[in-house]
Amino acid sequence: MTLRLDFTNMMESAVVGGIAEADWTAAHTPFRDAHEAVKADHDAGRLGFLDLPVDPVCFDQTQAFARSVRDRFRDVVVLGIGGSALGPIALRTALRAPAWNALTEGERGGLPRLHVLDNVDPPTIAALLGRLDLRRALFVVTSKSGGTAETMAQYLVVRDRLERTVGAGEARQHLVFVTDPEKGALRALARAEGVPALDVPPNVGGRFSVLSPVGLLPAALIGIDIRALLDGAADAAQRCVSGVLTDNLAGCYAVLQWLAHTRHGKAMHVLMPYSDPLRDFAAWFVQLWAESLGKIRPDGTSVGPTPIAALGATDQHSQVQLFMEGPADKTVTFVAVEDRGDDVVIPAAGRGIAELGYLGGHTLGELISVEQRATAGALARRGRPNMTLRVDRVDAWHVGGLIMLFELATAYAGQLYGVNAFDQPGVELGKQFAYAMLGRPDAAAARAEWDALPPSDPRWLV
Ligand code: PA5
Repeated sequence: MTLRLDFTNMMESAVVGGIAEADWTAAHTPFRDAHEAVKADHDAGRLGFLDLPVDPVCFDQTQAFARSVRDRFRDVVVLGIGGSALGPIALRTALRAPAWNALTEGERGGLPRLHVLDNVDPPTIAALLGRLDLRRALFVVTSKSGGTAETMAQYLVVRDRLERTVGAGEARQHLVFVTDPEKGALRALARAEGVPALDVPPNVGGRFSVLSPVGLLPAALIGIDIRALLDGAADAAQRCVSGVLTDNLAGCYAVLQWLAHTRHGKAMHVLMPYSDPLRDFAAWFVQLWAESLGKIRPDGTSVGPTPIAALGATDQHSQVQLFMEGPADKTVTFVAVEDRGDDVVIPAAGRGIAELGYLGGHTLGELISVEQRATAGALARRGRPNMTLRVDRVDAWHVGGLIMLFELATAYAGQLYGVNAFDQPGVELGKQFAYAMLGRPDAAAARAEWDALPPSDPRWLV
């Protein structure tokens, strides 16, 4: 057994206001339709993310490049944003030792540090570039479209620094691009300047690209077992081939969230791993669920659940009060880890002190697991639906499985909500306005629209 979903606490039988069994049974039909639509899209070659676990090109290109630069670099820096950054961050946090970048080279087994620059706030970039030894740094410039403003700006800054430090000729030895095989400025630059470039298959979009070289290359460079990652994803995909709802893990997750939202007003979907290594996985999920499902439907109505990232037990002392007693508009999905590796025994001291004595002899692993179950039970008791995804352990195989599970669930949810989960038209206008203000020549129309906006009104300024 690998991933198991216990959704008892989503159902009316356990939680007042939970999903009625009749609704669950009736949802088999819309799920079957959603599954068929996803399958048809895949058969038509549109859902490349499903093929990544068995794509030899992505794997071989990644392995070959990672081998070719082995032992040359102390620091790997990903330049990218959104789907080009969140996956590599989640993989590093989940599958490398805690505080990886703070370890010594010996503690890292000679493997490089991994930094991900996913913003253009100058102090962060200046600080990183200021402290790196650029002669021992590799920059992985990742952009599916090959022209995203933030990533291109970072690239120009880095390229200039590299040229000034190692020389124009040598700079390309410190660069690798990850981008579309044909389109975009990055691909054109790679061809013109001989910079090595790995392919993101054309039918794989940003937030679905973590199992392409977007995530695989940074992972391989820091020694993560990318074969196990892909095998775990393939195994999870196998558990989702059936059009029968109860036999399809990703389908169950998508349908439960969709029913809770559309029948019971649970528009907020919390993902709460009780696991520090999965902290950034929750952030990756937030982008996947939000950017895929928050859309205008063909009939003009706006839809989409709001994902929320939380961390157990930490958020028991932060957001859980809201989940428990705030508006009854949320579901909570816990991720519980069975085997956490080395555990820590709590010493049996403080006997006679009520707040300390009971802890002695238990382990920290026991405490965090008990707290997860206690929070799930308390939420259920208060009529707050929740489900628990159980993972044997956090390793490459299981993380690959989790990635595929949530990607497929997102594809099904897109069908259930009646939206295209694979585009993001809503971010376009803001991009056009930014281009207009920065003087990009093809943004004249946006400039006119921007100029027509009302200026700040002194009545509403304080
Ligand atoms: O999921 C998406 O498609 C987006 O979030 C992109 O990943 C993000 O906009 C970055 O795009 P690109 O990889 O083309 O630079």
